[in-house]
Amino acid sequence: MNAFFRLKSLSGFKKSAYYSNQSAINKIAFREKSLNMKFTTVPTKPFLDQKPGTSGLRKKVKTFQQPNYLENFVQSIFDAIKAPQGATLTLGGDGRFYNREAIQIILRIAAANGFGKVLVGQGGILSTPAASCVIRKYKTFGGIILSASHNPGGPEGDFGIKYNIENGGPAPEKVTESIFTISKQISSYKITESEEVPLDNLGTYELGKMQIQIIDSVYDYSELMESLFDFDAIKKLFKSGFRMKFDAMHAVTGPYAEEIFIKRLGASKDSLMNCIPLPDFGNGHPDPNLTYAHELVDILYAENAPDFGAASDGDGDRNMILGRHFFVTPSDSLAVIAANARLVKGYSKGLLGVARSMPTSAAVDKVAEALQIPCYETPTGWKFFGNLMDADKVTLCGEESFGTGSNHVREKDGLWAILFWLNILAIKSQSVEQIVKRHWTQYGRNVYSRHDYEDLPIEIATGVINHIRDSFSSITARVFGKYVVKSCDDFSYTDSIDGSVSTKQGLRILFVDGSRIIFRLSGTGTEGATLRLYLEAFEPDSAKHDIDAQIALSELISIAMSISEIKERTGRDIPTVIT
Ligand code: G1P
Ligand code: ZN
Repeated sequence: MNAFFRLKSLSGFKKSAYYSNQSAINKIAFREKSLNMKFTTVPTKPFLDQKPGTSGLRKKVKTFQQPNYLENFVQSIFDAIKAPQGATLTLGGDGRFYNREAIQIILRIAAANGFGKVLVGQGGILSTPAASCVIRKYKTFGGIILSASHNPGGPEGDFGIKYNIENGGPAPEKVTESIFTISKQISSYKITESEEVPLDNLGTYELGKMQIQIIDSVYDYSELMESLFDFDAIKKLFKSGFRMKFDAMHAVTGPYAEEIFIKRLGASKDSLMNCIPLPDFGNGHPDPNLTYAHELVDILYAENAPDFGAASDGDGDRNMILGRHFFVTPSDSLAVIAANARLVKGYSKGLLGVARSMPTSAAVDKVAEALQIPCYETPTGWKFFGNLMDADKVTLCGEESFGTGSNHVREKDGLWAILFWLNILAIKSQSVEQIVKRHWTQYGRNVYSRHDYEDLPIEIATGVINHIRDSFSSITARVFGKYVVKSCDDFSYTDSIDGSVSTKQGLRILFVDGSRIIFRLSGTGTEGATLRLYLEAFEPDSAKHDIDAQIALSELISIAMSISEIKERTGRDIPTVIT
């Protein structure tokens, strides 16, 4: 029986106020072993490849299973963050293969490093947004999240680890750089010898002087969602015969969906699919897009399709939104959410501002302009939104990579986006397609697509990028059919709050009419290189809004091919994934 079955079978456990009511805490001391418990310092040698990428350290499971590999990295985190003695840490992961083993190791290292308490999701489970919620709600000294997001899991798959700071968001670059620097010099780590900590029963355990509190994985997050959205309106929507299909892709959101959609919102059981999480995600690729969530896509494009379809990824921070026979691009989803935010309880006072990552389409910029609120353009990765949210500059933010979120936590949040859509649908009584098309009529359509070339040899992918950069001076002001190049650059960002500068964040070819071609290399892969090509063209004419994005973008695609020489240099005729 895997972790998730245990978690599921305990989902009826009384969840009320186990934080405030200490007497309700089932205190089980780790008696035998606390007597024999020993702190040891283990000599180790550095691994030189522990550089965190776009979202933490991601490697093959086999890499993490090497002796001392995880231990070194965790000790490097603790050395870098310098938590005060007795501090509290949040800990949980997406339940992928090696999650449980890693939790045990991290608990032992935390105890030896002087933490006073660790809040651990039951069964070692916390979705990424739920971890962010717990860090913020209980004001812990940050947290460690175990996930490789949407990357495949299982013994041959990927594993990942990242540290989130006290605001609940991913550590900024200065912290991840310091972790990396320490990891290259580490000579020992501290660890406690102990028996396995039972992760499946809610309650408090003691590991030396450190308390381990096993918390309900879904309760705090579900409460937060209920405080932001009009659950009564959504309940009525479901009662009225509205049909939804949510695909958890055998990943972490299954138990969350069960609690929120079925128990709290009264959706029918058949609204959920693939909601039993598995350590290998059923051998799937838990990435909610048109390629990997094809099972859901087929249902939404079938004859008797439901009204609404949605999916989330391995760790629950991504989302895909579908209507009946209709796909909402993540960039459009962010814009629609921004335009309708005032209709939704938690956002009825209006938005402070919005932010999007650079490659995300400028659809939300148009909404911000109409609402007369600021719109920020940041590099790829959620970590760049944290400062803006902490400084109350933005309420909503999003990325074209199926990430949408708000200042309710400091991570993108898949179920939150889905609930936002349900809340809008409940109030507007229009279909998903009508909502998006009316939005385009009002603001114009930013036709958008991303083409990924996965698993390329690193030198070849870097060669393509260098070649494009070298072409900048010769293509500036050049005319390609109906497109004229306005400027080209390698995107660089200065954080307006702390002044930090991030360079080389993606190559941009900007056209006079506002269209864009962007190239960048992925920072989350674990094998070879992934080259991403982002394409955007603005179409103000609503008579042309029904056209398929690949057709509307075909001229830009050929321009991108000719400038980059992708086909010649990689030998690939078509991208691996088109979203
Ligand atoms: C990808 C996405 C990026 C997202 C990150 C983490 O990073 O493109 O928007 O923040 O995953 O989910 P990349 O692989 O492009 O570096
Ligand atoms: Zn994710």
